[in-house]
Amino acid sequence: MQIDLRILRFDPERDEKQHWERYSVESQPMDRVLDLLHRVKWENDARLTFRRSCAHGVCGSDAMMINGRNRLACKIRVDQLGRKISVAPLPGLPVIKDLVVDMDGFFDKYRSVMPFLVAEDTPPDDAERLQTQAERERYDDTTKCILCGACTSSCPSFWAQDSYVGPAAIVNAHRFIFDSRDDAAGERLEILADKDGVWRCRTIFNCVDACPRGINITRAILEVSSAAVERRR
Ligand code: SF4
Ligand code: FES
Repeated sequence: MQIDLRILRFDPERDEKQHWERYSVESQPMDRVLDLLHRVKWENDARLTFRRSCAHGVCGSDAMMINGRNRLACKIRVDQLGRKISVAPLPGLPVIKDLVVDMDGFFDKYRSVMPFLVAEDTPPDDAERLQTQAERERYDDTTKCILCGACTSSCPSFWAQDSYVGPAAIVNAHRFIFDSRDDAAGERLEILADKDGVWRCRTIFNCVDACPRGINITRAILEVSSAAVERRR
C-alpha cells in the first residue's frame, strides 16, 4: 500500500521556518512509522533528521507528534493510522532540526526532583533493603517511565508556562517519594511545592493520553500534591 506521508521539516542552515514536505511511501500494514521515516531517509532524503535507538518502545528517544497525538514512532503502526500520516516534532519544545527537539530543559527538570534513592541508614552486614510486595506495588506504575517526554510536551499547563516542572518530572519524583526505602520524600515534596511544581497541573489528562507506557500520570500527580499538602499541615 502507498502511504501519503507528511513530515514537518526544518533545517536551521537552509530554512527560515518549518514547512511540510510530502512523500509517497510504499508500506506494509504492520510497518511502524519509524520504518516509514527510515525509508524516506534511505531512499528520498538522507538529511531527514530524527532520534531513535532501540526501535522497540524502550529507550524513549523517538517520541513525536503523529497524526496530531504524541506517540513513539517505533510503536505506532500504519494499520492503526490509515493511509494519510503526518509527523511533526514534539510540541512545546524548541526544534533543533526536523523531528529533533531540544530536551535539555526537560532533563534539567527531571534532575531537579532528585530521581534517585536516598537511603540514610546502611543495613547491618551489607544486607539488602527489604520491602514487602505491597510496599513495592505502591510505586510500581511510575517505575515504567522511559523519559520520552510525550507527557510534558502534550501538557497545556507546560505550553503556557514552560517553567512548570511538568508531568514527567513529577512521575519520577513519585517513584521515589512512595518508596518505603527512601529517606528524601520531604525534600522532594518541598521542591515540588514550589510555584512551578505540582500546583500547575490542571488535570487535563493529555499526559495520560500521550504516555506510551500507560502510566496513570494524573493519579501520580494528585498523589504527590496530596502528600505535599499533608506535609504542610
Ligand atoms: S510518564 Fe510516560 S509519557 Fe511521560 S516521559 Fe514517562 S513514559 Fe514518557
Ligand atoms: S526507538 Fe526507542 S522507544 Fe522508540
